[in-house]
Amino acid sequence: MLQGKRILLIVAGGIAAYKSLDLIRRLKERGAAVRCVLTASGAEFVTPLSLGALSEDKIYGDLFSLTDEAEMGHIRLSRDADLLVVAPATADLIAKMASGIADDLATTVLLAADKKVLIAPAMNVRMWEHVATRRNIARLEADGVIRVGPEIGAMACGEFGAGRMAEPADILAAIEAALGDTGGLEGVRALVTSGPTYEPIDPVRFIGNRSSGKQGHAIAAACARLGAGVTLVSGPTAEPDPPGVTTIRVETARQMLDACESALPADIAICAAAVADWRVAEAAPEKLKKVSGKSEPKLELVRNPDILASLSARKNDRPRLVIGFAAETEKLEQNARDKLARKGCDWLLANDVSPATGAFGGDANTMHLFVAEPNGSDVTVEHWPRLSKAAIAARLAERIAVALKTKSGPVRA
Ligand code: C5P
Repeated sequence: MLQGKRILLIVAGGIAAYKSLDLIRRLKERGAAVRCVLTASGAEFVTPLSLGALSEDKIYGDLFSLTDEAEMGHIRLSRDADLLVVAPATADLIAKMASGIADDLATTVLLAADKKVLIAPAMNVRMWEHVATRRNIARLEADGVIRVGPEIGAMACGEFGAGRMAEPADILAAIEAALGDTGGLEGVRALVTSGPTYEPIDPVRFIGNRSSGKQGHAIAAACARLGAGVTLVSGPTAEPDPPGVTTIRVETARQMLDACESALPADIAICAAAVADWRVAEAAPEKLKKVSGKSEPKLELVRNPDILASLSARKNDRPRLVIGFAAETEKLEQNARDKLARKGCDWLLANDVSPATGAFGGDANTMHLFVAEPNGSDVTVEHWPRLSKAAIAARLAERIAVALKTKSGPVRA
């Protein structure tokens, strides 16, 4: 909760400014007091009236307004806040912040700040990638400014790439983190699987897959950031062990299942691993050799255990919330609904992994959250925008915290 926290929200000129309206609503719901500074260009995108209605406060805009100064000097405006948030932060405002320019109310307030500053950049991909912006961002980060986003995705200008402002839920999570409000997974035990499994053919060869482990590792890290005690059971990946997480490295599906069962009891289980469906019935004890004149070796495959289904089916120590993933290349919605029912899990995050999406090994993903309702037959679907894997993890961890708080006992009754 952000009860009693005072946020000074600076809204600069970008098409993403409309998302700041939703951010204000979410901040208010959590008990924060929000005061807005709207730049002249920001006012081209959202009106003082809508910002004022949502924040239930006066909107500040002009440095040289005698009435504003009489009511609330710009220094006090800055000092009265617990956190300054710039959303959207345009390339121009970022450049001014990096150079310490103070030529309007927003920049003056930022220069006068003695509290943390959080920026949510939003701009065209070329502007974001421009060496000047890179330099300005590096400067601001070195100065201690906190940044959330931008995300990768389609832009209002028709281009595609990094530059979309982070979603309000992710900005909110960053605000809570900046204010030390960790947001609610304290005392929760989370079990997360991540990465591929390697199923041996012989001592040197294996059956594997292209999972990078990025999503599972990001989820483990996000849950830990919200205060959960996390055990991460990971197949072979190049990802480093997340800080503050107990990481158990395994190779095969059977080892992964054993490690998961040993990590029980847990309150939540999130199965993000790409577990091999089959293994070689009997791995050769010695390296298979090419022998001329002999027929080629045939691999006999057997089914691997399904870790998600096994955890969902546990009787006495079933986690309160079991979450699976579905990577689909076709008929996403139907397959996701079928999988949710078949695996017996509570939530399923599905995404399209057809090669064109670059989801495998990439840094961003478009997720659809399928939630099994308590009556067992209904499913609600939430379509998330294209987000970085880190932002997906943050959003999921936040959703879990809310679900655990609002329900005692199993999340799906
Ligand atoms: O059946 P499919 O592989 O598409 O299901 C994906 C979901 O099931 C993921 O959450 C994955 O981690 C989990 N899974 C598992 N054990 C398996 C196969 C999949 O936990 N053997």
